[in-house]
Amino acid sequence: MTLHKPARPKGLFVRTYGCQMNVYDSERMAEALAPEGYAQVASPEEADLILLNTCHIREKAAEKVYSEIGRLKALKVARPGLKIGVAGCVAQAEGEEIAARAPAVDLVVGPQSYHRLPALLARAEAGGLAIDTEFPAEDKFDALPARPRAARGPTAFLTVQEGCDKFCAFCVVPYTRGAEVSRPVTRVLAEARDLVERGVREITLLGQNVNAYHGAGADGDWSLARLIGALAEIEGLARIRYTTSHPCDMTDDLIAAHGAEEKLMPYLHLPVQSGSDRILKAMNRKHTAGSYLRIVERLRAARPDLLLSSDFIVGFPGETEADFAATLALVEAVGYGQAYSFRYSPRPGTPAAERPDVDPAEADDRLQRLQALLARQQRARQEAMVGRDATVLLEKPGRLPGQMVGKSEHLHAVHVATEAPRGTLLPVRITASAAHSLAAAPRLA
Ligand code: SAH
Ligand code: SF4
Ligand code: F3S
Repeated sequence: MTLHKPARPKGLFVRTYGCQMNVYDSERMAEALAPEGYAQVASPEEADLILLNTCHIREKAAEKVYSEIGRLKALKVARPGLKIGVAGCVAQAEGEEIAARAPAVDLVVGPQSYHRLPALLARAEAGGLAIDTEFPAEDKFDALPARPRAARGPTAFLTVQEGCDKFCAFCVVPYTRGAEVSRPVTRVLAEARDLVERGVREITLLGQNVNAYHGAGADGDWSLARLIGALAEIEGLARIRYTTSHPCDMTDDLIAAHGAEEKLMPYLHLPVQSGSDRILKAMNRKHTAGSYLRIVERLRAARPDLLLSSDFIVGFPGETEADFAATLALVEAVGYGQAYSFRYSPRPGTPAAERPDVDPAEADDRLQRLQALLARQQRARQEAMVGRDATVLLEKPGRLPGQMVGKSEHLHAVHVATEAPRGTLLPVRITASAAHSLAAAPRLA
């Protein structure tokens, strides 16, 4: 008599690099592979399939992938059936070069074709490299399996827009993600309702240029502001955020929504990149420092406590000390609560990569000066919260017993002494400010 072993679920390990869009895609890739018998595991050692969901934005990000593959290939000796796949923006940008540089890779899939993962995996299992970096005609979201009904945590990302038509001179995104596409209104609303039914209280709408959203509705294209208005009507959904936005798409209705829509949180990531009009022009940004400052002014008129965040690139080709001084002046004028700053990294295929570099030591020095100023502003904004009231959406237990961590309206991480469960919107009083988080005590309503 032969005993039939129950089919063991195959192990899937996904490692995510890059932006929030990749976080969302990683979830959807895992869901696409569930019908094939894959369940997520906690470490690469337990996996039958390892997917690296990669980022191509700066050289360092892209190079990380190759060192990771270098480490992972040793696992193939112990697990001969193990497959390694590269997904995301490096997959799209480098395609077959990846397999040439890293023969341990079995599968390469771009960010617009991962709905075809099951077929690709079958090809990889049959032997040889399986690669799909097409921008397919079909909408991958339509082709993906329905999302599982499992309960989930209080916060979720929801991609509503993909790709970019802006072609900033430094950026690979228009090449790795393709042209701007918005998901239809009904699909977005259905996915949001489903998330809320599964326990989600806060949704962050995602897109490489999310405020350029123009999804098809029953009566023509909808703007992001109108979409936010419709989402706000979902009962049980408490908070809405969106990222990332381009200054040129900060339309009147969206600015007004920051004043009118209670569920829209007072936080906005609005990258400016530089404060010098000469550099902004060379970057092909199509806004000036002045036009950006006017948008900030109007946003603050609509929502005085809005916390602003931004991205900066330092050492862009041709940047002089005077250009950099203009960036510092813009930062002083805005007063950011949060920001990311990067040294310019030349990317293959982008126009700026052809231009002469700024002296690396000079660029590093500017980056340090900018980061010192941004850190001072971030700390000042956090410290200004002490003594104030806030509401925290509890996400997980803190490091100490009897403590929970969550985010305030302004996206500050807040530690609260409370036994309340995750998913609770807890009124608190902020009591202290540490390096990267706030402490708070529950407030009796
Ligand atoms: N779509 C968003 C940002 C996408 S990339 C926007 O338009 O704002 C995230 C950030 O990475 C950018 O805002 C920019 O500051 C930075 N970045 C992009 N390309 C870069 C490069 N070649 N070198 C250094 N930083 C870069
Ligand atoms: Fe890149 Fe510019 Fe598009 Fe943002 S707007 S994704 S920085 S090209
Ligand atoms: Fe990176 Fe691609 Fe996002 S290049 S930042 S993962 S869109």
